Amino acid sequence: MKPLGPIPPGFTAKDGELAIGGRTASALVKEARDTPLFVYSRDMIASRIESLRDVMPKRLNIHYAMKANPYAPLLEFVADLVDGLDIASVGEFERAREAGYLPREISFAGPGKRDRELHAAIRAGVTLNLESENEAERALTIGKQLKVAPRLAIRVNPGFELRGSGMKMGGGAKPFGVDAERVPALARRIVEAGANWRGFHIYSGSQALDAEAIVEAQGHTLDLADTLAREAGVGVPHLNMGGGFGIPYFDKDTPLDIGVIGAALETRFAELPETLRDTQFAIELGRYLVGEAGVYLTRIVDRKVSHDTTYLITDGGLHHQLAASGNFGTVVRRNYPLAIASRFDAEPEEVVNVVGCLCTPLDRLADAAHLPRAEVGDLVAVFCAGAYGASASPSAFLGQGEAREILV
Ligand SMILES: Cc1ncc(COP(=O)(O)O)c(C=O)c1O
Repeated sequence: MKPLGPIPPGFTAKDGELAIGGRTASALVKEARDTPLFVYSRDMIASRIESLRDVMPKRLNIHYAMKANPYAPLLEFVADLVDGLDIASVGEFERAREAGYLPREISFAGPGKRDRELHAAIRAGVTLNLESENEAERALTIGKQLKVAPRLAIRVNPGFELRGSGMKMGGGAKPFGVDAERVPALARRIVEAGANWRGFHIYSGSQALDAEAIVEAQGHTLDLADTLAREAGVGVPHLNMGGGFGIPYFDKDTPLDIGVIGAALETRFAELPETLRDTQFAIELGRYLVGEAGVYLTRIVDRKVSHDTTYLITDGGLHHQLAASGNFGTVVRRNYPLAIASRFDAEPEEVVNVVGCLCTPLDRLADAAHLPRAEVGDLVAVFCAGAYGASASPSAFLGQGEAREILV
């Protein structure tokens, strides 16, 4: 038997079934007309953001990194709850505009921005987090052509990393950002060229559950921004301090203690160096805001036994839930939180493998999981599906097509 990850708090049973936003899984599937289905809860997203604001310093802005979940109704809902949006392509920019975000609330990070993307961002007034000197020169040239001062910040490749993070984005050679020692010269160049200088973006990692590690990285980030500003002799109108707030996906993962982070930031903000006194600070978060608010519902289409192992075969799989299958950046596959949604309050009574419908051994949703007995037609719920699910999975693989999505 292998443990399942912890089901996020807030999910209850109604009439024996999993309920999301007060409605049973079967009612939600009926409304969406079919499975597989992603369900995202408004209440959970709103209360997550509210509890974050409760503990973070008032002068800290919260940005949403839409790469986590770009589903249009969710993006629109989040627009009223956050202070800014981080995008990674012009495709995301178009979705953001449709969802009502204003260009000045948007920053665009990501290596390999094409000229037409720089053009669209500069013309609209989006802040570019520049990833290289080359990108900076192209942005300045495009600004001149358009006769506008582009809003430019430098994404710094810091010399440190976010300890314990699932994805490290600093501390050595990286395709992201400009190495810290080359940043002062580039900052001077941008200011002297007459651009609208916005400051720094320092992103050191993702998916950290250790509050002390985040406190440490944020401390290094503030120190680095101060050093860079002094060396360059430029101001820091804005400092995007990155994010990295993780959520528990696996057995023994414990929730991040945001109170510790908020208190430490409050202390740091009370003793800011001269260079950062007037700075507007932001963190950018994806999965922490929306990850636990999403559930992936998939229906069991077959139940079979092979060499004493029972398989529940579902109509979903890695084409929608690559991360839960263990194929999205994990070294050793572990089980995500998963339940039989149709029998949410029943006791576990058998050990089964839950798999997807793709013809590959990679398509696993739970290995050797202890679950209530489930039959063909029952619904399975995979939790922590609100981030890097539908849009981060290969839905075209084997012609299965996309999942449905609803916001409740
Ligand atoms: C620059 C940047 N911002 C934000 C994020 C969002 O990360 P998460 O969803 O873990 O908060 C990432 C993730 O890789 C990133 O690279």
